[in-house]
Amino acid sequence: MKIQIINGPNLNLLGKREPGIYGNLSFDNYYEQLKKSYPDVEFDYFQSNTEGLLIDKLHEVGFSFSGIILNAGAYTHTSVALGDAIRAINTPVIEVHISNVHNRESYRHVSMIASACLGTISGFGMNSYRLAVEALINKEHK
Ligand code: DQA
Repeated sequence: MKIQIINGPNLNLLGKREPGIYGNLSFDNYYEQLKKSYPDVEFDYFQSNTEGLLIDKLHEVGFSFSGIILNAGAYTHTSVALGDAIRAINTPVIEVHISNVHNRESYRHVSMIASACLGTISGFGMNSYRLAVEALINKEHK
């Protein structure tokens, strides 16, 4: 099983960025732990601050991987193009957020990608990614 994790803008600063909201752990540290917990899963990780590069990555893996876990950061709330890219590919995408976007500013309550995704996981800290992995594994074994 091949799972692509994609992080969007500002998520390269996890661990340094607004730790009260996003915690103290860098994504690289979390990713190492995650890979160890699922030795049978083949993971790939990609981060970009550029909308077009996120779309290119979705196109690249979206016809061969088993699942994609996407934290599109602020592009979640603005990007029609990312929603279209998710609709254009075959691989199921899970929308993930570290914070609970629904108890934050009202502009974060809107998602331009949610309707194109298999489901959304929001508000469980870094554990949101692990819950998304579980969802993809359970889907595979259904
Ligand atoms: C986020 C929530 C977004 O609203 C925000 O713009 C982010 C991170 C999260 O993981 O909680 O950059 O996607």
